[in-house]
Order: sequence, then C-alpha cells, then structure tokens
Amino acid sequence: MDEHKWNESEIKQKMQTLVDKESIQWMQERSQKIITLMSYYKCAMMEVETKLNVLNEEFSLQYDRNPISSIKTRLKSFQSIRNKLEHQNLPLDVGTMERNLNDIAGVRVICSFREDIYLLTECLLQQDDITLLEIKDYIANPKPNGYRSLHLILEIPIFLQAGKRNMKVEVQLRTIAMDCWASLEHQLRYKKDTEFTEEMAEELLECAKISEELDIRMDHLRRQVIPKYHDDYGLVTERIIVK
Ligand code: GTP
Ligand code: MG
Repeated sequence: MDEHKWNESEIKQKMQTLVDKESIQWMQERSQKIITLMSYYKCAMMEVETKLNVLNEEFSLQYDRNPISSIKTRLKSFQSIRNKLEHQNLPLDVGTMERNLNDIAGVRVICSFREDIYLLTECLLQQDDITLLEIKDYIANPKPNGYRSLHLILEIPIFLQAGKRNMKVEVQLRTIAMDCWASLEHQLRYKKDTEFTEEMAEELLECAKISEELDIRMDHLRRQVIPKYHDDYGLVTERIIVK
C-alpha cells in the first residue's frame, strides 16, 4: 500500500490528537532555538566575509591587485546537521550542535596565488577579535587523494542586543587551481550510479599533482611580475606553514 503523504493541516490535526500540548510546545521551542542559532552562524559568517573583503580592498589600493578571486559562503543544511549528529549518536539540540559541529558556518576563499592564502590567514589571525581553534594545512600536507586547501576553525564574536556571543566558523582557503580540482573531484566521487575505481583515484591524484605544479609555477611568475609585493609579504608562507 502506498504511504499516505500528510499535508500541513492534516499534520497539525494529527499532532493535536496524538501528541499532548506540552510536547507540541517543547518541539516548537526547540525548533525556534535551532532557527535562532542558525541565524547567529549566518551573522558570524557575514563578519568573516566582511573582514576578508576589507583586506582585499586594502591590498587592491596598496598594490593594485586582489589576493581574493572570490568568496563563497554556506550554512550547513539542516539535513546534513541531522545526519552528522545521528552518525555520532548525538542528540539534535542547540548545545550539542554548538559543541560538536565546527562547520555549520562555512566560508570558502578562492585566492589568486598560493602565497595569498598564507598572507590572508596571517592578516586574519592578527585581528584581536579572532581566535584560532584549529588549523589544518592540506597544502603543506595534502590528503592522500591529493586534496589541497588550508582549513581554519575560527571563533569570532557577534554583537547582539543582549551582548556578545562567540561563534565558530570554518574557513577554507584555496587557489583557483585547488578549487578547480576539489570541485571536480567532489562531482566525480559522489556520482552514485558508477563505481569509483582504483585507477580513477590514481588519475585524480595525478591531476592534483598537475594542479600543484601549476600553482608553484604561477607563484614563481608572480614574484617576477610583482616584486614589491613579494618583498613586503613573500616570506609569509614560511612563517605560518603548518608542518
Ligand atoms: P568533517 O568536517 O566531518 O568532514 O571532518 P574534518 O573536519 O576532519 O574534515 P576536514 O577539515 O579534513 O575537511 C572538511 C571539509 O573539507 C569537507 O567538508 C570538504 O568541504 C573539504 N574536503 C576535505 N577533504 C576533501 C576531499 O578529499 N575532497 C574534496 N573535494 N573536499 C574535501
Ligand atoms: Mg570539518
């Protein structure tokens, strides 16, 4: 027998007959709290995006070039949050979400050159309202499949009517070449109808090496074309690289 699909008013009616008033109120309060928390994450994401845009603007004025090619922001979908908590056998409530998930707010920064990634990271981490909770340097140490990016988990305050609230934001910094590889790899690996073979994985790793080579050569060219910029900031990679 086909399962009956309930419409909204039928659900309301059923809830009133099957679930007691207090329980309905409990569910409504809980969903209200989750919606509020998600809006805080959105604000924190906006804060980080603005900080990055300010830095980009400053470099544009000072050196007539933009270290940032583009910025993408995303809030983790409610479905993914539920799946991730369920996978860890954790309950779905705001406290658990805040304590256990670092990537509800995500900012992806696509940089022009590899060294811009470290330069922006250093500038961001110098700001006194930002706390670095975690850093993973998959550029210095790529994942076995070839994935490269610099990942930061930051804590940043948002200022609400009732005061300050610290929120976590995941920032992924990549070059255009790294982003190209990661986007295509994601599309290929998550195709459900075809098996992902060992040979395909090897081919992808080979492509990752080509994209790394491209970044190295582009950085080399950049040093020749914009030497002033390199003299001021060129050593940043060595200063903050994570071994
Ligand atoms: P999760 O956040 O649960 O995935 O674990 P984690 O925090 O240990 O993961 P990590 O920081 O290594 O990576 C988190 C994010 O980086 C993912 O959600 C992706 O956006 C990206 N990422 C990591 N590895 C890969 C990869 O192999 N391919 C692609 N395309 N993206 C990746
Ligand atoms: Mg993560």
